[in-house]
Amino acid sequence: MPRLGLGTLRLAGFNGYGPPPNRARAREVLMRAVELGVRLIDTADAYGPDVVEELIADSLRPYPDDLVIATKGGQTRPSRLTWRPDGDPAHLRRACEASLRRLVLERIDLYQLHTFDSAVPFEETVGALAALRDEGKIRHVGLSNVPVEQLRRAQAIVPIVSVQNRLNLVDREDSVVDYCADHGIAYLCWFPLGRGDLVRPNRRIEAVARKHEATIAQVALAWLLARSVVTLPIPGTASPAHVEENMQALELRLDADDLESLEGVELEGRAALRRRARAAARRALHSTRHAAERLRSGKS
Ligand SMILES: NC(=O)c1ccc[n+]([C@@H]2O[C@H](COP(=O)([O-])OP(=O)(O)OC[C@H]3O[C@@H](n4cnc5c(N)ncnc54)[C@H](OP(=O)(O)O)[C@@H]3O)[C@@H](O)[C@H]2O)c1
Repeated sequence: MPRLGLGTLRLAGFNGYGPPPNRARAREVLMRAVELGVRLIDTADAYGPDVVEELIADSLRPYPDDLVIATKGGQTRPSRLTWRPDGDPAHLRRACEASLRRLVLERIDLYQLHTFDSAVPFEETVGALAALRDEGKIRHVGLSNVPVEQLRRAQAIVPIVSVQNRLNLVDREDSVVDYCADHGIAYLCWFPLGRGDLVRPNRRIEAVARKHEATIAQVALAWLLARSVVTLPIPGTASPAHVEENMQALELRLDADDLESLEGVELEGRAALRRRARAAARRALHSTRHAAERLRSGKS
């Protein structure tokens, strides 16, 4: 299987909520990805919610035999702005059965726990996934947004074949990657393009891209592929042309000089994030003051 998948959060509406703005184009993204050799499609019942799983079935059935649809359960979408963890075993069972129906599958190849729910003992949540696996509703269990300690606890209950955590040129500190490499666990990288931030002009990434006649996105993805033998980036896109561009990252080999010059991207990225956070805090303070002044002056 190629070590690059397709993330499908972007195929729902704004902020991963509601239907896609252009359904025909969203279908084209999925079909083009499979045509180009993508064999892992990452999704979740929460994308839409429900919308993206239905879109996948509508666009890709009959599925190629070797296509892995990796969906997730354990997180709900009460609204466009909210994501709510739900690791209750009864919820997970209902969620898995609903995903099977929407995807029109008899068994889900890879079912991932979307996130940890602090209101439910973790062992009970993982126990529910083990039961679904024993019953043949899911083939393999994966976890998302986990630290090493939790991964170990889950492994004591059921074999874990994959982890899905955030990893990219800026967010590169995740000890789970090395744990996965030591234990033969696939590591699916979410936000591999920093949610689009890493495809903005950046002199360090651009210099490496120029040297290889590649694009910034391809360099960001190639860096993840070079990070460890177990990484599998899942870039998200609503553009068939970008699927094509991203797949070509599999051909790009970064050398030691490239990796060294990309070191600075992390520090610069963190500084930019801090600047953006300070600007957002200033804007929030300004709006709060403005609202307070309007209230004091009797305007609504
Ligand atoms: N487990 C979790 O908790 C979790 C959380 C978030 C995401 N995920 C998964 O991870 C996947 C990836 O995350 P993401 O989609 O949010 O962010 P991402 O892959 O880091 O970045 C997506 C952004 O990059 C742009 N892009 C993609 N390819 C490009 C290219 N070649 N050139 C220029 N721009 C490009 C896309 O715009 P265009 O549409 O214009 O291409 C989009 O704005 C998701 O789709 C989802 O499957 C999982």
